[in-house]
Parts: sequence; C-alpha cells; structure tokens
Amino acid sequence: MQSLQQQIKVYEEEIQAFQPQNAQELEAYRIKFLGTKGIVKQILGEMKNVPGDQKKEAGQLLNAFKQLAEEKWESNKHLQEGSNKKESNIDLSLPGSQVQMGTRHPLRMVENKMVGIFEKLGFSVASGPEIEDDWHNFGSMNLPEHHPARDMQDTFYVSQNPDWLLRTHSSSIQARVMENEQPPIRVVCPGRVYRNETISARAHCFFHQMEGLYIDKNVSFADLKQTLYYFVTEMFGANTKVRFRPSYFPFTEPSAEMDISCTVCGGDGCSLCKHTGWVEILGCGMVHPNVLRNFNIDPEVYTGFAFGMGVERITQLKYQVNDLRLYSQNDIRFLRQFESI
Ligand code: PHE
Repeated sequence: MQSLQQQIKVYEEEIQAFQPQNAQELEAYRIKFLGTKGIVKQILGEMKNVPGDQKKEAGQLLNAFKQLAEEKWESNKHLQEGSNKKESNIDLSLPGSQVQMGTRHPLRMVENKMVGIFEKLGFSVASGPEIEDDWHNFGSMNLPEHHPARDMQDTFYVSQNPDWLLRTHSSSIQARVMENEQPPIRVVCPGRVYRNETISARAHCFFHQMEGLYIDKNVSFADLKQTLYYFVTEMFGANTKVRFRPSYFPFTEPSAEMDISCTVCGGDGCSLCKHTGWVEILGCGMVHPNVLRNFNIDPEVYTGFAFGMGVERITQLKYQVNDLRLYSQNDIRFLRQFESI
C-alpha cells in the first residue's frame, strides 16, 4: 500500500507538470496513462494485492488518480488533429511564405505596347470573333471564291456550307468595324489568327496580328508612311530606319511591305537579317475601292489605309526570340525573362 501510494504520487506530479504542445505529445500521453496497457489500468490491476482493510482507502486514491489523468487528457483534447482548435499554436513571429506572382505573357505585353503607341495617335481598339464566316475573312476583303490569293493563307475550316472558318488574318476585324461604323474610322484590331501550317521554329498554326485601319476624306499614302514611321521609332528607337517595297494584297491598292533596319546589327548585316541589314515587319496599303464599296463607303469621297503585322514578329525583333514555339509551350523559365519589361 505504501509503495502504491508513492507510485501514484510520482505519476500525479508527472501529469500535473505535463503541458502537451501538439497532437503527437497528447497521443503519447494518452497511450502511456490511459491506454489499454497504460499506467491507470496497470495500477488498477494492483488493487488485488492490497490487503482487505486498506482496499477502501486505496480505491479512493486510485479513483482520484484516474480522474486526474482523464481530466488532463480532456482539457487538451483541442490539440487533436481535426478538432476545432480553441487556441491556436501558430507562431506569429515566423516570416511569411513567399507568394509567386504571375506575369503577363510576353506577347500580351508587346501587344499592349503596340496598341498604346497607336492610341497616342488617336486610334481606338476593336476586336472580333475568332470563328468567322467566309464573307468577313475573305469575300468582303476583295477575295471572292476561287480567288488564287486565298491560297496565300492556308485556312482551317470549321464547317462547309455555310463556311465557318478560323480567321486567317485580323483583317476580318476591320471588316466588322466597317460594317458597323461610318468614316472617320481609326482603329487597331489585335487578335489571334490561325493558319494550317506545320509547326516549326518559324511557323505556327496560330499566331497574333494587329491590324490598323484609317478611313477618312483625304487619307493618303503619306499618312500611312508617317503613321508607321512613328510606330517604328516608338517601338524600336529613334535611329531605326524604314523602307517600303511594292507588294500585293487583294484588299489594298497600291500595296507595300515595310522593312526596318535590323534590330540586332543596326544594318551592318547579321544572321537575323540574312546579311541584308533589313528585316520585314508588316504589310500595308491603301484600302481597295472594292473593299470600301462592300461596306457602302463611297471610294469617291473616302480613302483609307490599312496595315497588318505579326505580334510574334515584333516580339522576335525586339527581344530576339528565335523560336515561335516558345510562346505556347508555357515554359516558366522562358516566360519569367519578360517579368520586368
Ligand atoms: N492581312 C494581311 C496578312 O495577314 C496583312 C495586311 C493587312 C496587309 C492590311 C495589308 C493591309 O498577311
């Protein structure tokens, strides 16, 4: 009896001093004292050795001990996982964990910059659907059925009769603008376009264009040149030179392609400009009278210019990205390089 009393006293002290910090410590305690092979059970088992006249006293002692052991567990139950914590043991002095910030896609950043330059000149922004009908993508743009120039742009057809297709150029957006607005019209139309091309470093089945359209009385080729020259100097710097080469587009007459002095070598010749000193950046021209007529705009009263350029191309020239596939591979190492531009 004496030794039992002493034993209980030692355990009581241990229980009183015990301050569990987490679920594991609490569980270890429960197993040690309250488990099926725990100390409480073990001491209860020793009752049989207590002489009969002391049994009553020993019973009270044991009950009190059992109660103490259980109360300790009860009062710390909130530490158990999944229980509703009354008190939290969050360490408020710990440094916070870093949140990874997302960034804009490089093409979107460049597109925003391109749009911003034209907005300064008074252009507004228009958009249109990526799935188009034949009329808005081809017919109204002076490309009637069987026109050979349709082969210039390998088209993805969604359905035939009626013809639904993935727009092959952002000119379809200017068609929608002319349909809904009367001159003066001054818009830029950025958007994703699709062409059925084998994917490689230099070609992709989808890419991004930005089209510009300006229609008013007395708009001339000189206005076109000055507008594009302003764009180039804003985008690539004041020392950039431009040149225009005659070209052909069904929706413009006359048509031209514009080159700028190479953004890598400045005109001395390098692999980017194939040692010519010049790189092509866009197509442009005066809106064809047939296109104006298609939208009930009188070509005797109004003239206009249009231009179209690839956002990937501008990004390549500005940041020397040499593989078109990088833009859509979602490689974070590539994308992160544009964080600060
Ligand atoms: N739509 C032409 C293309 O995708 C570009 C262009 C637009 C050319 C406007 C002239 C005028 O190739």
